[in-house]
Amino acid sequence: MTNPVAGTRPALHAIRVTVNGVVHEASVDPRTTLADFVRGDLGLGGTHVGCEHGVCGACTILVEGETARACLMLAVQADGRSITTIEGIGAEGALHPIQQAFVDERGLQCGFCTPGFVMTVHELLATRPDPSDEEILDHLGGNLCRCTGYESILRSVRLAARRLREAKAAGAEEKA
Ligand code: FES
Ligand code: FES
Repeated sequence: MTNPVAGTRPALHAIRVTVNGVVHEASVDPRTTLADFVRGDLGLGGTHVGCEHGVCGACTILVEGETARACLMLAVQADGRSITTIEGIGAEGALHPIQQAFVDERGLQCGFCTPGFVMTVHELLATRPDPSDEEILDHLGGNLCRCTGYESILRSVRLAARRLREAKAAGAEEKA
């Protein structure tokens, strides 16, 4: 007797997602995670996948400017939305100030967790340009690093915040 379920595949869903300012139209299996979509379909491997359970924060991306776990979100849930991955923040040779601060303060070793940290810090500094250490640690509470130690990550965030404030002040002076 044939199994009526075996071999069946769910119908693909058409989605339209803006990723790093570029509109992508695709047909995806409804079970595809957003992490697999950006990494596999779009080739944006900077979004790392660690625990796949929403615990480690390595897969953190921005959805409409707010952090989200790409391993817990389905690609179909991103339909019609705007997403930013680490590739949309900065690039080799043109690092974002947050990335540069992590380099300068040695806020990374293997770098596996770093994209998730950078995206989370990006969200924090967008609304809290001068956060206290407590606010930084609280905001980063959902991001795990197995090898660097959090003191250098904290220094990195302080440095990034200071540089971004200085750049903003310099920009305001130029306009005046
Ligand atoms: S891989 Fe998504 S939270 Fe760990
Ligand atoms: S730098 Fe290796 S896990 Fe954070």
